[in-house]
Amino acid sequence: MEIRKVGVLGCGLMGSGIAQVAAMAGFDVVVLEAEQRFLDKGFLGIEKSLAKFAEKGKLKDPVDTVRGRLKGTIKHADLADCDIVIEAIIENLAEKKKMFATLDEVVKRDAIFATNTSSISVTEVMTATKRPERFIGLHFFNPVPVMALVEVVRTIATDEDVFSAAYEFGKKLGKTPVRTSDKTGFIVNRLLVPYLLDAIRGYEEGIGSIADIDLAMMKGCGYPMGPFTLLDFVGLDTTYYITHVMFDEFKERRFAAPPLLKRMVMAGWYGKKSGKGFYDWSNPDKPVPQDAALQAKG
Ligand code: CAA
Repeated sequence: MEIRKVGVLGCGLMGSGIAQVAAMAGFDVVVLEAEQRFLDKGFLGIEKSLAKFAEKGKLKDPVDTVRGRLKGTIKHADLADCDIVIEAIIENLAEKKKMFATLDEVVKRDAIFATNTSSISVTEVMTATKRPERFIGLHFFNPVPVMALVEVVRTIATDEDVFSAAYEFGKKLGKTPVRTSDKTGFIVNRLLVPYLLDAIRGYEEGIGSIADIDLAMMKGCGYPMGPFTLLDFVGLDTTYYITHVMFDEFKERRFAAPPLLKRMVMAGWYGKKSGKGFYDWSNPDKPVPQDAALQAKG
């Protein structure tokens, strides 16, 4: 089973990153979006990231060659001959199922389907297709061009050779694949989400300021970002959504959204993408902790 052409569904933060690394690794890539303006936005991000790699001499091929492998489309039919299709659209079960049900009718029968979901059950998304044995999870990490890991997720219905092909594909993308199964949160979020939520609970209890908790985890544990910077980076809305799925699955407090997280999401404080979260990101190089606002109003 040789993978040559890669389809990517969605050209947001994750989809554009996945498309970029696949093109950098030498694959032909076609990215599907609902509207041209979303493609334009995603491709702009790809250009910026490629420029960073090129500047440091970290690209195997010239930027033009990589760019030439990437095609954006708004037509499902353009993905018909893809060998693997990776979905990275909005984290919503109904939307994902609708997308895969449509693609299942269009894309060749022996193509592998993969979802980049971070918390929704891969098995549940799979039920929208008639190819359960060719359906897997491929979970990438933000920022996709930089983070080395990809979780390769099997369901009880996944064929062994499909799983192996996906694992090898992860390596060809230049990532480090790990094998995991369709248990909510897989490996990383199962461990990361309770840690991030505990940071918020600790903050609510007064263990330290936003900046000090971040500093403590960076300097004490060698993490590249403290939990609040990471929360703002991942998106508080995304984290809040993940907590719902995980709490619903496990019914354990460690996966439950702390009240402060809920209130911040209700107020539209999503983190870096909305300009404000635990930090104010008006100047992205100098984020300002929001303790005063959060303690007075939270
Ligand atoms: N494209 C290309 N290069 C990029 C880039 C991009 N999009 N983003 C950053 N870089 C490069 C920078 O140019 C820089 O390169 P040099 O070291 O050669 O100068 C390098 O990456 C480091 O970047 P910065 O100097 O800007 O900042 P940093 O040292 O803080 O690193 C980071 C940034 C890589 C994001 C680092 O802070 C980090 O690893 N943070 C943790 C991220 C993390 O945990 N992600 C997982 C989130 S969970 C998730 O995604 C899954 C989920 O389901 C929620």
